Amino acid sequence: MQPYLPPSLRNFSIDYMAFSTWVDHLPFGYDLVAAIRPQMVVELGTQNGTSFFCFCQSMAENNIDGLCYAVDTWAGDEHTGEYDNSTYEAVQKHARSHYASISYLMRMLFNDALAHFSNDSIDLLHIDGLHTYDAVSEDFRNWYPKVKPGGIIIFHDIQARIMDFGAWKFWEEIAPQYNTFTFKQGFGLGVLRKEGGEEPFHDLLKMLFSKDQKTQEDLRAFYAHAARFHEYKRKVIRQERLQQQRKQQQMDAAQKIQTTTPDGQ
Ligand SMILES: C[S@@+](CC[C@H](N)C(=O)[O-])C[C@H]1O[C@@H](n2cnc3c(N)ncnc32)[C@H](O)[C@@H]1O
Repeated sequence: MQPYLPPSLRNFSIDYMAFSTWVDHLPFGYDLVAAIRPQMVVELGTQNGTSFFCFCQSMAENNIDGLCYAVDTWAGDEHTGEYDNSTYEAVQKHARSHYASISYLMRMLFNDALAHFSNDSIDLLHIDGLHTYDAVSEDFRNWYPKVKPGGIIIFHDIQARIMDFGAWKFWEEIAPQYNTFTFKQGFGLGVLRKEGGEEPFHDLLKMLFSKDQKTQEDLRAFYAHAARFHEYKRKVIRQERLQQQRKQQQMDAAQKIQTTTPDGQ
């Protein structure tokens, strides 16, 4: 097999970032969309939009002809805490200005959104709502039929063992029953392939669902490193911007002194 050279390594620079533990999975999210080339992406739980806009960015930059739906009440839940309307407004503003033709925000309960999707229609489903055991299992049970045979479901926070998070327990139960892959960095990300459909032909999908332990470990290490790399890159860019701003402020201040002192006249 040729070495896998993912698009996140070649040309990805995070376009939208809000506070989120999804920061540990952005390069993978970007590459997964590029690999699947989905016609339909559905996200359950969007909040600030970090994961959602990563999917949208990959759709746009990799010329994928498809739609991304974000389902959320944008009111918060027991784990995120309640938040005000400014979160929805910020997501709406970015969606309209950058991804107007491909993104749809569905401000409603997950259960109310179900009726808007046909069975076997979703290529990529992201489950990232409330993380109790009961909520995650309900979301999986309700939405699994909506996913295409061979489609992909990703679960966030499957390593988080805080408060009454139970996604980890649910993942431990279902992972052995399906074709799955587990990312352990950050709060973890589970990847599940629904049975049926065509055999995966993209290198990333082949590696994800390979039974070869070395391949799986290499992939895990690669994406843990890629996420750290992007995080450092973002910090460096932020530092450079700050330095430039300071320099500009110093230059402005010096110019002001010059024009207001007798020597500067
Ligand atoms: C963990 S946050 C999503 C994080 C986001 N994916 C990111 O990239 O940072 C969970 C979101 O799910 C929403 N949520 C939880 N349960 C829901 C339900 N049953 N229906 C609609 N929204 C729900 C909350 O409002 C919250 O904004």
